[in-house]
Amino acid sequence: MNETIKIIQNMRTIRKFSDKKISKKDLELIINSSVRAANSSRRQNYSIIVVDEKETLDQLFYGSNKGLVFCLDFNRLIDTAKHLGYDYDPKDIRLFIIGSIDTILAAQTATIAAKSLGIDSIFTNSIHRAKIEDVYKHFNLPEQYCFPLIALGLGYPEEEPKWKMGRLSGPGLVHDNKYQRLTSEELDQLVKDYDDQDLKLGVPAESLAEQGFERYLDWFFKISQIPSR
Ligand SMILES: Cc1cc2nc3c(=O)[nH]c(=O)nc-3n(C[C@H](O)[C@H](O)[C@H](O)COP(=O)(O)O)c2cc1C
Repeated sequence: MNETIKIIQNMRTIRKFSDKKISKKDLELIINSSVRAANSSRRQNYSIIVVDEKETLDQLFYGSNKGLVFCLDFNRLIDTAKHLGYDYDPKDIRLFIIGSIDTILAAQTATIAAKSLGIDSIFTNSIHRAKIEDVYKHFNLPEQYCFPLIALGLGYPEEEPKWKMGRLSGPGLVHDNKYQRLTSEELDQLVKDYDDQDLKLGVPAESLAEQGFERYLDWFFKISQIPSR
């Protein structure tokens, strides 16, 4: 494995951060790398709010040392158009999708850059669990054509996660040339894979048992269909 692959393979979400501060230089490197992500038609349809207020970091970013809110945002372009006497109205849903892709690519690139500097991270939906009006008010976001897509907390770990989550990477997820639905046998295997403690795709068996379930997917479809995190 080369260094880049090692960094990517070693990435995992951190939920408890130490007090160690991210240096200004590292934060700049992370942001300057983040914006290097591919983007559609030179638009970079996003804005990044950099957060270092402790209370906000504790509330929305798992107590990490710096927070980045990645917002899908057309306002810079709208204002530039107006400045030049043009009308620019990005109502088309395709622009929403394309802009969201720009935004998320920048966010993921930030996590990889951070990890390469020894800085860990957590993506969080906390901003969507909060009252959305409060989020707009708190970050002074434009009410139109700006949507906070994802929050990213950055910092140094206080505590390692108990287990490193696995990932699916085979049949049903990767398709050769043409899409193929899983067969009944492959679905049986998938159900088993979620409970294979070595693959670490589901949750630890003890924690499932505590909730009265034997199979992870029973818990998933009965309890956890609506994302809470
Ligand atoms: C869109 C998104 C939102 C997430 N929100 C949360 C969150 O609010 N709380 C949390 O603990 N983890 C959150 N995560 C992290 C996932 O739980 C984590 O990536 C997943 O469990 C895999 O674990 P790993 O990153 O350690 O491999 C989020 C991840 C994504 C991509």
